[in-house]
Amino acid sequence: KKIIIAIDGFSGCGKSTTAKAVARALDYTYLDSGAMYRAATLHFLNNFTNLTNPKQIQKSLSGMDVSFHYNEQEGIQQVFLNGLNVEEEIRSMAVSDQVSEVSKIGEVRKAMVEKQQKMGKHKGVVMDGRDIGTVVFPNAELKVFMTADLDIRAVRRQKELLEKGEMIELEKVKKNLEHRDKMDTGRKESPLKKADDAVELDTSYLQFDEQVSRILELARQ
Ligand code: C5P
Repeated sequence: KKIIIAIDGFSGCGKSTTAKAVARALDYTYLDSGAMYRAATLHFLNNFTNLTNPKQIQKSLSGMDVSFHYNEQEGIQQVFLNGLNVEEEIRSMAVSDQVSEVSKIGEVRKAMVEKQQKMGKHKGVVMDGRDIGTVVFPNAELKVFMTADLDIRAVRRQKELLEKGEMIELEKVKKNLEHRDKMDTGRKESPLKKADDAVELDTSYLQFDEQVSRILELARQ
């Protein structure tokens, strides 16, 4: 029987790489909810939207279409903004620096959550984010809450960025993770928190394969 797997946690814990591997092993669809908030942020940046002006936010939102399309070559869903594949662009530091400001806006969340819930209708979905187990799929059959030591997360993220050609000081990467965690946990709308029935997984000292197999074990129970 197909289920919904919700993976939440702090920034840079390896949620998305883990979720991707879990989805592949189970032949499920992987959906990256953070990519949707990042695409929204890119849209707002492109439009010079003033985040303190509700009218401008409304206007930007009405001209925004965020969707996923399956990429045969990569074997995953990739995020599109108004018909363009923005999978690469949304990982830049410029977007990372703004995304928590955009994702605290109620109207933005409402639009994203609606889409996410539709995508989970047929089960067989692994979705990662901040509020998947608490708000998007409160009835998910399996909820995982990932954590890891901040310094370890920063080193991992810096390496990822470097592999994509972006060289960022470790201190800057760390500050960004810290900033987002603080904003995401502190916001009024759907704050980042562990769902009561989520299983906590600290990945600081876990090998990648171990964290994937722990989740697979839980999924098969
Ligand atoms: O998962 P990722 O780190 O790409 O998410 C980027 C940002 O999007 C988070 O720091 C958070 O502000 C926002 N986000 C959110 N709710 C989600 C997923 C992401 O608010 N479900």
